[in-house]
Order: sequence, then structure tokens, then C-alpha cells
Amino acid sequence: MPFPETRLRRLRRTSTLRRLVRETRLSADDLVLPLFVCPGEGVANPVGSMPGVFQHSVDRLVESAGEALEVGVRAVLLFGVPERAAKDAVGSASWQEEGLVQRAVRALTAAYPELVKIVDVCFCEYTDHGHCGVLRGHEVDNDATLENLARQSVSLAAAGADVIAPSDMMDGRVGTIRRALDGAGFAETPILSYAVKFASAFYGPFRDAADSAPAFGDRRAYQMDAANAREAMREAAEDVAEGADLLMVKPALPYLDILARLRERFDLPLAAYHVSGEFAMLKAAAEKGWLDYDRALMESLTAIRRAGADLILTYGARDAARLLAAGWSE
Ligand code: PBG
Repeated sequence: MPFPETRLRRLRRTSTLRRLVRETRLSADDLVLPLFVCPGEGVANPVGSMPGVFQHSVDRLVESAGEALEVGVRAVLLFGVPERAAKDAVGSASWQEEGLVQRAVRALTAAYPELVKIVDVCFCEYTDHGHCGVLRGHEVDNDATLENLARQSVSLAAAGADVIAPSDMMDGRVGTIRRALDGAGFAETPILSYAVKFASAFYGPFRDAADSAPAFGDRRAYQMDAANAREAMREAAEDVAEGADLLMVKPALPYLDILARLRERFDLPLAAYHVSGEFAMLKAAAEKGWLDYDRALMESLTAIRRAGADLILTYGARDAARLLAAGWSE
């Protein structure tokens, strides 16, 4: 029955009615906090383009994870930010037993056994040229990079990482990593594939945080073209066939259509990465008094969940969890 029998406003009248009929809910259970680990002790370098985000030495990282746990964020995503001198052509610092992330994983496990430690697997933070793999001329050599991805993954699993998350966008990496993990006795370690990762301007602030901007060129020869949705389905299907346990779409807000399409087609848990630029935009506008950060953050995260994400990686995880714990509702 149309209007006037039907009046959709009836169920919007009060906050309690709205809560009752709300279709999508946020929970701290679904949030993952990205953290950056750097050398040293007692270090907390603020990242200029991301207020509230730091590069932490292992000891401070453990404190930071503890603060996240206190508000109910039980999963972190770890990135290593080695010193310049530790970088080389292939990114070998990423697979050392005493590597930054390996040490961080062990320290976090010792301090908080229940914390889920997801590790980003890539090379751009570890290579002296800032590209995500081994170079041949000015191009990233896919198959030579696969071998190193397997090394890095096994080394991180051995340190105690709970989830391996490759973000390099080489073809065949999920299958290669799966076989390497299984062969090394880590058959139970899941792979969260950055299956659909677009070459995006929204990674800008991250490259400050991780000191990982490419020294020449860009990542368009391996990350996806923003214009392509059908190709995104092929990327995801490949990774499912190769044994991915979870799929990710990245960035989140500009690609909600991709997330919704993936949700229809695949039954794997879906993650969305609300990336550095998405977070920085909220912070910058809020600092100018142009946006209400809390409300814009919660609306963004709700939209990402509504589009089909089961879990969200966001620099706002702690803020969102704090708001939820205080009974957030609009
Ligand atoms: C590493 C990596 C990047 C991000 C996650 N893993 C940067 C890139 O691909 O350039 C971006 C995360 C963010 O912007 O928050 N390959």
C-alpha cells in the first residue's frame, strides 16, 4: 500500500525505535587496528598525516595494543618500518627471525595471548626502491617475488602470526604462500588475501607512515585499475581457488560497489580496509571544524558493514570501539 497508508517515517520517530529496526550493527569484534613497528626502544613517532597514529618500537607497540584490547579491539594488523640502512633490493629484512614484525609478534603473544595478530606481507617497506617485490629493470618480477613472499610468510608464521595477509598483488601469491605454509608445518595458519587492491591515491598518508613510497614510477603495473569491477571478481575468484581463507577489498568507501558484488558471489568472510587517506580526510576536516569526526567515522564504518564487510581494518578502530562501549547510537 502506498502513501498515505504507508509512512516510512513512523519507525524513525525515536532513537529507541530506530535501534529496534536497525539493519546493520557495528561491534568492536569486527574491528582490526593497523599498527606500525619501528626500531629502537621507547619510540613513538607521530605520523603527521594521521593524527593519533604512531610508529612504535616493540615495547610501545605492546602498550598500544594493550590500550586497544582495553576498549575491546582484539585484532591488530602489523606493518614493519625498518631503518633505511636495513633496506635492500629484495627486502630481505622482512624474513629475518629477528625482524621487526617477527619480534613484535613474539612480544605481543607474550603480553596478550588472546590478541589476533594479522601480519601484512609485502616488500615496499623493506626494499630500497620502495616497490613491492624484486625488480627486473624497472618492472616488478612476479615469479621471483613469489619465492620471497613465501619466505616472509613462513618466517612470520614461525614467529607466531595468527593470520598472513599478502598485499603485494603478485599473481599466484596465495597458492604459493599456502603451499609454503603447509610445507613448513603451518597448515592451520589462515590467509587473508588483499584480493582486490586498487592502485589508489588514498594510500598517500600510509606511505609516510611506512616510509614505502616507490622511488620511481607507481604501482599501477601490479595494483588494480580503479575503473574495473569485473576484473575485481576475477582477482577474488583466483584467490579463492588458490586457497584464501578471507578476502579483502581496499580501499573501502570508494569501492563499496565492489564489496557488495563480492558479498553476493562469495561466501568467504570479507574484510574491507578503510585506508589511511580515508582516515586522514576525516581527521583533517574535523580539525578544521568542517566535520564531526565521531559521527563521520561511525557512519563510514556502518556503510562499509552494510555493503557487505564482515570485518573492517581501520585506524579509527580504537575510537569506534570506545564510542560503542559508551553506548553509541544515533
Ligand atoms: C603495502 C601496503 C599499502 C597499504 C597496505 N599495505 C601501501 C601501498 O600499497 O602502497 C595501504 C594502507 C593504507 O593506506 O592505509 N603494500
